[in-house]
Amino acid sequence: MNEQPSTASHAGRAALLAADGHGVAEAARLLAAGWLVALPTETVYGLGADATNPVAVARIYAAKGRPAFNPLISHVPDTGRARQQGLFNAPALALARAFWPGPLTLVVPIAPDCTVCDLARAGLATVGLRVPDQAATRAVLEQLGRPVAAPSANRSGHVSPTSAGHVLSDLGHGIDAVLDAGPCSIGVESTIIACLGGSPRLLRPGGITRAAAEAVIGRLLVDAGETGASPIAPGQLASHYAPHATLRLDAVAPMDGEAWLGFGPDPELPEACPRANLSVRGDLIEAAANLFALLRLLDASGARRIAVARIPQHGLGEAILDRLGRAAAPR
Ligand code: TXA
Ligand code: MG
Repeated sequence: MNEQPSTASHAGRAALLAADGHGVAEAARLLAAGWLVALPTETVYGLGADATNPVAVARIYAAKGRPAFNPLISHVPDTGRARQQGLFNAPALALARAFWPGPLTLVVPIAPDCTVCDLARAGLATVGLRVPDQAATRAVLEQLGRPVAAPSANRSGHVSPTSAGHVLSDLGHGIDAVLDAGPCSIGVESTIIACLGGSPRLLRPGGITRAAAEAVIGRLLVDAGETGASPIAPGQLASHYAPHATLRLDAVAPMDGEAWLGFGPDPELPEACPRANLSVRGDLIEAAANLFALLRLLDASGARRIAVARIPQHGLGEAILDRLGRAAAPR
């Protein structure tokens, strides 16, 4: 399989690669040839393609059914490689030093030698960069020697995948391989911060809390939209994270016909009510790790509506509520 794949989607079923030396080498070889490989990260599985190859990147959008104007995050093995692609000002460097490898994406102006193709950046003069905290995936990036564009490995509008099984059920026939490193430890996407001069802007809450990022840069993050002229992260499109069922947030108990998604101790539930709990002990980190898998589970129960317990706003709660709010938005 050395020929360049066509723009048509690959007919076969995705190969499952173990996260060992052989699997890593095979993933790098497939990516170098322009194929799509889903890669594990600490946040969610990403649908990876060689970011320097526009045909490969076009196949990401095709496989996801994603609007083509969404810029993608490019993944690199370390801060040095990130600085070949983007221009880092003082806050960007401080954030990279504090949180990479980890669940943080920095949107920065492209460097003169940036090799991330236009399509992966949706034509913007900025680039989203991230060093994932996942050893097998960093080994793939290292061997490939090129950045890998990778949005979450789900069909556009579906919940994000936190296991290789989720990727296969959503995209198994549209991609070429999945590198399986088990479930993701964090389970919500990276925090995205734009460092484009002036105050850094929070484009998407995620695995790094606002407070932790603000402590590093020594000032408050400006919210996306507050400055007016911001290209908002299209991940903020209203129904981007939507399951098929509708959501009712801040619920005390399920109503007739609803599934229940709890946080903290459950109320008394009717026997027939499909249920799941983000964290019985009310732990936001545990809740974040469970969020997408449990939404999927309840969605698969066939319930038309999911009632979601009240979730506190602090820490990772902001990221969880952001995603639930999108899923609950009318569509
Ligand atoms: O945790 C994550 O971030 C996962 C893993 C795979 O790394 N990736 C992920 O990618 O969530 P995706 O494509 O689902 O979300 C990427 C977000 C989008 O909202 C996109 O618009 C924003 O990043 N983004 C990327 N580059 C950007 C840029 N140059 N300017 C503004 N937003 C950008
Ligand atoms: Mg996504």
